[in-house]
Amino acid sequence: MEKKSVILDCDPGQDDAVAILLALASEQEIDLLGITTVAGNVPLSLTESNARRICEVAGRADMAVFAGAPQPLMRKLVTAEWIHGKTGIDGADLPDPTMPLQVQHAVDFIVDTCMKAADKSITICPIGPMTNVALAMMKEPRIIPKIREVVCMGGAVKEFGNTTPAAEFNIYVDPQAAEVVLSSGVPFVMMPLDVTHKALVTPERLQKFKDLNSPVGNVCGGMLDYFNRFDMTRYGFEGGPLHDPCVVAYLIEPEIFKGRNVHLAIETTSELTMGQTLADWWDIQEKTPNAFVCDDLDHDRFFGLLYERLGKL
Ligand code: BDR
Ligand code: CA
Repeated sequence: MEKKSVILDCDPGQDDAVAILLALASEQEIDLLGITTVAGNVPLSLTESNARRICEVAGRADMAVFAGAPQPLMRKLVTAEWIHGKTGIDGADLPDPTMPLQVQHAVDFIVDTCMKAADKSITICPIGPMTNVALAMMKEPRIIPKIREVVCMGGAVKEFGNTTPAAEFNIYVDPQAAEVVLSSGVPFVMMPLDVTHKALVTPERLQKFKDLNSPVGNVCGGMLDYFNRFDMTRYGFEGGPLHDPCVVAYLIEPEIFKGRNVHLAIETTSELTMGQTLADWWDIQEKTPNAFVCDDLDHDRFFGLLYERLGKL
């Protein structure tokens, strides 16, 4: 498979942290150009320092980490400490990072990287609210043809939302940003809750992370132990959903996932259903598809990939 040039845009978050680790461990398939961070699960000062903490655990203090938008385009920031804990990666128990935060703003990094690149060559992976990516497209629309595809975690199409009955967290926090990115016309792949709620860290799977017996395994064990509690209690799930690593796994082994080319729309006006993602699954409107939306995954293969790759770090 051709190696992909990737920018990972994240808001760590325990599941973002595992996504970062999977990307760092997959150099054969992924050329990780930089990690950009955004306000989401916790405020920006924490998401950027958490991204650096995770790079350091993986022995990758050389990775470039950038801080981006501290708030959504138009709405007040909503965070999710009730799921992720005060730090965003509760359970990881990591010291303050020592590697530097890049001086350049995340949005400028995205713009500069794309402008220097060939057409259709950069894969952008937003696994938090899409504020940084939208701002980059608004600041410099000439980056749009440089993007090979946007592969994001967000939305809920046949499932209910996890932040309101209608909306999933990442899209709810910045629906206008998601709309800017989707309507730019870039190839758009979405991993909604329909997929990620099938990627559950059951107690047996949690044990396998711990059994890696390495600093990375211990950090994953601690974080996921903490992260599991919320969804197991609230939804009665057998484990917490490992949302964001689905995006990175899709870059490595797309065959793990099933989905459909559909027409996708995002609610940006109604307060009641703000951030809802409406996929025309049965092509009722006969509109041209604008997104590949996944709805299923081979969960054993997904977790197999995670253990294999994280075991290398
Ligand atoms: C998404 O929201 C965050 O809580 C997770 O990191 C994930 O990106 C799931 O709705
Ligand atoms: Ca996230």
